[in-house]
Amino acid sequence: APNEPKAEPGIYDVLKAAGDYYRQQLKSAPQAIAYLKGRGLDGKTAAHFGLGYAPAGQALKQVFEDYDWNKLLAEAGLVGDDEESHRRYDRFRDRVMFPILNQRGSVIGFGGRVMGDAKPKYLNSPETPVFEKGRELYGLTQARAAIRANGRVMVVEGYMDVVMLAQHGVEYAVATLGTACTPHHVQKLLKLADEVVFCFDGDKAGRKAAWRALENSLEYLVDGKRLAFLFLPEEHDPDSYVQEFGRERFEEVVSQDAVPLAQFLLRELSAQVELDTEEGRAKLVHLAKPLLAKVHAPAYALMVKKRLAQLCQLELSELEPILSTGQ
Ligand code: GTP
Ligand code: MN
Ligand code: MN
Ligand code: MN
Ligand code: MN
Repeated sequence: APNEPKAEPGIYDVLKAAGDYYRQQLKSAPQAIAYLKGRGLDGKTAAHFGLGYAPAGQALKQVFEDYDWNKLLAEAGLVGDDEESHRRYDRFRDRVMFPILNQRGSVIGFGGRVMGDAKPKYLNSPETPVFEKGRELYGLTQARAAIRANGRVMVVEGYMDVVMLAQHGVEYAVATLGTACTPHHVQKLLKLADEVVFCFDGDKAGRKAAWRALENSLEYLVDGKRLAFLFLPEEHDPDSYVQEFGRERFEEVVSQDAVPLAQFLLRELSAQVELDTEEGRAKLVHLAKPLLAKVHAPAYALMVKKRLAQLCQLELSELEPILSTGQ
């Protein structure tokens, strides 16, 4: 309508403008294109995920003529203000850019990767009014249809894992954003599909992340949903694995080798004790107790208790009172 005031640009507009610019810049950045090609990425996938390139320097000056005083740029986490020189700088410089979208498909933040060995390898947007890392899942917008069609969502660690799996036809993967899988994430994941598969890297950090995900999942388990953990060979992450072995092999491994949550839990705890001694079995009960106390899903809790009883050479009726006492 002609008399309506023109809407002020907001934080989403600024993020969108930056994302459009980074995407445009990728087309004229041969070194960034070569980097992505070198990693096996094709142009179609890069476009599907809106990948871009952030040039060095105060590149966003080319997009925002009010760069030096635009408050929204700082609020969106796109620039920082240097305390000493009072000069603005672009947060993302000379990096390959992965836009992070919300449910509605609006850009809410970015991850930027260096193309060499500089540190930090990945730089993420800071927390902003529209970007809360502990709640968002990278790639969800692109994965949503495939998650529904497969009844499965896969959680991986990194941007490249999501993107490369999708390129190979595994389109139901999402990533947490350099944070652990939080309770918010778990609740969101369980709403998306009946099966949640965590597939972290085969390194030490990946195994640690898997355990954190388990701890944060227990409270939200629902009978009828399946949570499983896939452990890749030591030197692999989903990106490298799917590139080396392809989709079929990857999905075969998912169906055959993913360990159900209950099994993962008891396996990890059992590894910490000597099951062939009475002290060891008592310690296993002691370790399992606080974890099992978090599980509300009745059938699930019972199954785990039965397995635990077997491992400890106890009857379920003997184990249950121990698990339900106060200390
Ligand atoms: P590539 O080397 O590009 O394949 O990355 P990757 O995803 O395999 O990296 P890695 O397994 O080392 O880390 C997993 C995830 O943790 C990354 O995708 C990032 O989200 C995050 N991450 C890794 N390095 C850094 C870092 O230096 N800073 C921050 N903030 N996050 C990081
Ligand atoms: Mn798609
Ligand atoms: Mn790793
Ligand atoms: Mn990795
Ligand atoms: Mn990787």
